[in-house]
Amino acid sequence: MMVLIMRRRSLIALALASSCTTPTEMADTQDDSRTDHHSYANFEDARVTHLDLDLDVDFASRKLRGSAALQLEGAADRLVLDTKLLTIERVETSSDGATFSETSFDLGDADPVLGAPLTIALNGADRVRVHYATGPDATGLQWLEPHQTAGKKAPFLFTQSQAIHARTWIPLQDTPAVRATYAAEIRTPKDVLAVMSAEMRSGAARTGAYRFEMPQPIPSYLIALAVGDLVFEPMSERTGIYAEPAVAKAAAAEFEDTESMMTAVEKLYGPYRWGRYDILVLPPSFPFGGMENPRLTFATPTVIAGDKSLVSLIAHELAHSWSGNLVTNATWRDFWLNEGFTVYLEERIQELVYGPERAAMETVLEVEGLKEEMASLDDRDEILHVDLAGRDPDEGFTGVPYVKGAMFLRTVEKIVGREAFDPFLRGYFENFAFQSITTADFVRYLQANLLDDRPAAAEKIDIEEWIEQPGLPERRHEPVSDAFEKIEAQAAEWLAGTAPAEALPAGGWTTQHWLHFLRTLPDELAAGRMAELDRAFRLTSSGNSEILCQWLIMAVRNDYAAADPALAKFLTSVGRRKFLKPLYEELAKTEQGKRRGLEIYRAARPGYHPIASNTIDGILDWPG
Ligand code: BES
Ligand code: ZN
Repeated sequence: MMVLIMRRRSLIALALASSCTTPTEMADTQDDSRTDHHSYANFEDARVTHLDLDLDVDFASRKLRGSAALQLEGAADRLVLDTKLLTIERVETSSDGATFSETSFDLGDADPVLGAPLTIALNGADRVRVHYATGPDATGLQWLEPHQTAGKKAPFLFTQSQAIHARTWIPLQDTPAVRATYAAEIRTPKDVLAVMSAEMRSGAARTGAYRFEMPQPIPSYLIALAVGDLVFEPMSERTGIYAEPAVAKAAAAEFEDTESMMTAVEKLYGPYRWGRYDILVLPPSFPFGGMENPRLTFATPTVIAGDKSLVSLIAHELAHSWSGNLVTNATWRDFWLNEGFTVYLEERIQELVYGPERAAMETVLEVEGLKEEMASLDDRDEILHVDLAGRDPDEGFTGVPYVKGAMFLRTVEKIVGREAFDPFLRGYFENFAFQSITTADFVRYLQANLLDDRPAAAEKIDIEEWIEQPGLPERRHEPVSDAFEKIEAQAAEWLAGTAPAEALPAGGWTTQHWLHFLRTLPDELAAGRMAELDRAFRLTSSGNSEILCQWLIMAVRNDYAAADPALAKFLTSVGRRKFLKPLYEELAKTEQGKRRGLEIYRAARPGYHPIASNTIDGILDWPG
């Protein structure tokens, strides 16, 4: 699935950026890297400023059908939009927004990753309206049968637009460089509720006709819709849960600290600018942990552990309200500006709400995970300012933009001190609010507002190495956790046979202690030792998705057959790619494992989201 749409301008930029340059030179040469290799849109000629969606949600045919009306700024003869697997019925233009007349259009050849450009003759008009329907294989939509939901009564639909899937359900300029406001009218069957990443204007009564408005300009990847048997459970004045009736109360209890998290970020980085912050808990097939859709984070139910131990996910998605949604990566190669900053903010929130010890443990776990992942990554994927030209961004994203990105910021923070770094970041969010920026924009801002005045500090930070080179710079801040050092000593004793499993002081261990303990153990563990741990701690029946996943990876690796039914159950009931990927990868390492993997996958695959099955198809060489 390789596509090559490198433009000449960016080839030059790449050649320049890869030679040895000072940070200032780098910031200058990178101006060219504003090119978005993942969009056909001619947004430099005509830019969409507002979108009006009008859609019917048809569960029977698994289609969205209706129209998208776009308001434009700038004069151009033609408008090129991104589409993928859409059926375009007709296109109209208008100059007053009231009368529309039909215009000619051309749907180009489809690329398997990017979809097809839709070229529309504008003839001086500044509005277009596209009448269309989605296709059965739209990768941005997942249609669920009632039996795939918690309540088993109503069907469910949700969208996932990031990175480039918005174009599979809306024809638009699908690039994070373009921001638009939007309004939507959504019609559904009467027994379900529709929610969007916008203000609900029609109220929560189930009328089957819902109205939404997003008054702040957002990039296309943040447009989101979900429809299902949803109820609302308030948490605070401005936070609440949308979920199926069976999970709403548990979710509200799990996430009750959301308001404290908001207060914590606001104190550090300025006011929350989006009005409400609600969380939509999706069915377990949701392919991600969370998605930061503005005003309405989408979240996996697998973080409802019963003890708030996995709520850093909420801290993360909430933090995106600043890093990502307010200040947005201009192209997907600048993705680390979204995720690295967000992981950094997430840690700051966790520290303020749950204390430095928990924050440190979570950070160490992330860094351990990154180092493990980097052992098998190509050099090119270890670069923050990653080159994704010709690649599917879904397959190009790794832990690097997240954890190496956060490590870079943490290193700068340690060098200049929080007294300087906190106001700097606050100023960054203020300065670039509602803008889409490149890595070079950030580098310039960092120099002008933090480093130029601090030559001694600047001396210690090799920006070019952090941003353009693979690996982790020698001079970096490594997180440490005292609690984890104790765990390592205890694990060593158990391994050496000096203490039996029952003697481990696990009574006081949290999820993070457990994860570190399990990851500290060697890859190879005799079946008897696995059984000993399982007898003492019932790991195979853990209700904590992170612990269970880690344990199941170990079980596959060590052929611990007693965990096989739990493995099959987990893989068929959960669709979160982060869990599926390492488990199927581990299975695929042996012939027998691969056979078992394929057997489980055959049954599980119909329940997975296309984004997840796409990944697993590759791991198992799925013949389909
Ligand atoms: N924005 C991401 C999810 C995403 C990234 C979707 C790229 C599609 C393409 C979201 O904020 C995220 O990072 N989610 C993580 C959880 C987080 C705690 C690291 C996830 O889903 O695992
Ligand atoms: Zn994120």
